[in-house]
Amino acid sequence: MKQFKFILVILCLLSGNLIPFENVYGQAISNLPQLGKSPIEEVIAAMTLEEKAALVVGTGLKMGEKENSMGFQIPNQPIPGSLADQTKVYVSGAVGRTLEIPRLGVTTIEMVDGPAGPSFGSRTTAYPIATNLSSTWDVDLVYEIGKCMGNEVLEYGLDLLLTPGMNIHRNPLGGRNFEYYSEDPLLSGKMGAAMVNGIQSQGVGTSVKHFVANNQETNRIAVDARISERALREIYLKGFKIALKESDPWTLMASYNSVNGATATENYDLLTTIARNDWGYEGIIMSDWDTGKDPVVQMKAGLNLIMPGPYQDTLIIQAVKSGKLKEEVLDQNIAWILKNTMRSPKFKHYQYSNKPDLENNAQMARKAGANGMVLLKNEVNALPLKDKNQKIALFGNGSYVTNVGGSGSGFVMRAGPTVNIIDGLKSSGYSIEDVSKQVYSNYIKENTPKQNMMDAIRGRIKRATEMPVNPEFADEVSDNADVAIITIRRNSGETEDRNIDGDFNLTETEIGNIETITKAFHSKGKKVVVVLNVGGVIETASWKDMPDAILIAWQPGQEAGNAVADILSGKINPSGRLPATFPVKYEDVPSVRNFPGTPADKPEDVVYEEGIYVGYRYHNTFDVETSYPFGYGLSYTEFGYSDLKLSSPKFKNQIEASIKVTNNGKVAGQEVVQLYISAPENKLDKPAEELKGFTKTKLLQPGESQTISFKIDGYELASFYSERSAWIADAGEYTVKIAASCEDIRLSQKFNLENDILIEVVSKALLPKFEINEMKNELNKSEK
Ligand code: BGC
Repeated sequence: MKQFKFILVILCLLSGNLIPFENVYGQAISNLPQLGKSPIEEVIAAMTLEEKAALVVGTGLKMGEKENSMGFQIPNQPIPGSLADQTKVYVSGAVGRTLEIPRLGVTTIEMVDGPAGPSFGSRTTAYPIATNLSSTWDVDLVYEIGKCMGNEVLEYGLDLLLTPGMNIHRNPLGGRNFEYYSEDPLLSGKMGAAMVNGIQSQGVGTSVKHFVANNQETNRIAVDARISERALREIYLKGFKIALKESDPWTLMASYNSVNGATATENYDLLTTIARNDWGYEGIIMSDWDTGKDPVVQMKAGLNLIMPGPYQDTLIIQAVKSGKLKEEVLDQNIAWILKNTMRSPKFKHYQYSNKPDLENNAQMARKAGANGMVLLKNEVNALPLKDKNQKIALFGNGSYVTNVGGSGSGFVMRAGPTVNIIDGLKSSGYSIEDVSKQVYSNYIKENTPKQNMMDAIRGRIKRATEMPVNPEFADEVSDNADVAIITIRRNSGETEDRNIDGDFNLTETEIGNIETITKAFHSKGKKVVVVLNVGGVIETASWKDMPDAILIAWQPGQEAGNAVADILSGKINPSGRLPATFPVKYEDVPSVRNFPGTPADKPEDVVYEEGIYVGYRYHNTFDVETSYPFGYGLSYTEFGYSDLKLSSPKFKNQIEASIKVTNNGKVAGQEVVQLYISAPENKLDKPAEELKGFTKTKLLQPGESQTISFKIDGYELASFYSERSAWIADAGEYTVKIAASCEDIRLSQKFNLENDILIEVVSKALLPKFEINEMKNELNKSEK
């Protein structure tokens, strides 16, 4: 008998299909093709039309028994007994899953949100928000965070994490900017690739989202983003292109909005012409949750998977039967799903532990949070707070109840305990001034509104409004304390953009508090530090002169207070740099006239008139002053730049730039070396500077140097010529600028490109249907 089984196994292996005795589900099977053992085409051919239609549509928001018993109505439920309904819920709280077809060995892919760490029914880690991570400018660290997140997904029996969010910070009011990396596509693309590679190193999947131009939340499901071909290619698509080229994400998520007239999920140009054909993407192209009007158009556009489903299958079946949708189109979409299903832990029968190393992951979250904090100001050596015997007075509700992340799907539901700023400072050994602590604790207790459970689950937690500080109180506290920390706290999230007043701008109470507290402390020769516990850019110019130091802590995940303490104490030398421009005032933002579009309350369209001039590309080119520029951030040490060398004064296929960075200060630290290029402007309008490379040094000891080198290839020099649908590097003189921020160029050198180089011709796609009156640097210059 034993021998017979052995022979059978050998036969199965040799034949590769027809007679395995059990499939991944452990089901005895006859001679049906099996995913992974038979060619994909045979598996598809063995499916019924009903199975095919149900497979290209997710199985709905079926939750586990626990959620079902909570008594609220969950939308997108499968019809009892339907194929979608038969797909098992393996992990309760997953936000979507694909159909399983046990008889063909097709397993489900179970998906979970989102960018700050897996969010579902089990205890996970709340990591720093994406903007905090990108501020590290450290691709290796972001990779490590990805590994931790991926391991949580794997060890809880899930298959895919719905991250990274890769939309561009077009406007500081964007409600989900905190889930995204940067205003710059290179920084965004490199961060996204590192995150995907880190997560997927664990054998689970990712979803690069939201493809493309989901740069606002106001009417996100219907707004048409009207963007020139050049701005699309150079700014909005570029980060996605980099991430897809440098990593291999299992899925790409098409966004809610339309792009140049067609809904992203129904947009053939976007999904098939660009992602599939131009970029050669081989993962699953799927929809954002519940979007698009016509599932048949979605199928034809190359959308492989409609999430979360499950109701669209009927229309698909009808369309095939009536000849409106060719079955081959369906089959092609299924092929992409199956190909990637085979990568998943469920398919591989992974035996998960339910025990990821949460202790280690919390430590990594703390490290990344601290490394992504940006020191904006540090005068009179206010920081670090070297003497642990100092008594710290904590002002601002956020010092006591710190925001660890934003809200919506990017909120981590069951994160570990939050370390508030007060807790972090206490456990690092500082003593906290008692009067302020008591007053704030009582105030917060008495003024925190009752929570609405549904809102709170997604992080829309109602907070007490900021407590006004009067001069007498500030005076009393300043007698007892050595230093004041004032925390300014913000929250934003999915479905809503931020406001200018009271959000981008500080409230009157906040400004008043900074003024009152600074006056009281300064009158006694004591220092004041402002900590910004924010998810995005805020106004700083009007009040930044008052405090002695300003630190952007962002929303640094569950270890928030510990990470803040690491920076304030000097245990970690700040090395974060801004991934977005801090303008002097909101009116200086280039998209200000076109955000969120028209009509403003429910915009039907939004015209990207600023074109390629997003963020620093605008400020540098048009000489518009910033409060703090892109790439900026201070350290507790000073870095010197020297020995810029180019491999040649003439560009052929590549040029190498090398540079020496030296720690000239007294403490160890890391520097972010940025390489910008200024391109010749003989034909096209060009931004004054564009980021083309960056590296974070190792931890340099005082006096230590490191040589950094950058390779610059043709792509780095090229601009997109819409009329030719081509990336072309123009002949002429280029300047390489090595910088500590986009406004702090330390060294530069020129090289020459003799003749134009045609770098790449791409498909003519996503043409705007309306004229866009794009911002131009020099009005007379038109594309030639
Ligand atoms: C969000 C996505 C998220 C999905 C699933 C959507 O509303 O836009 O980012 O992954 O929901 O929760």
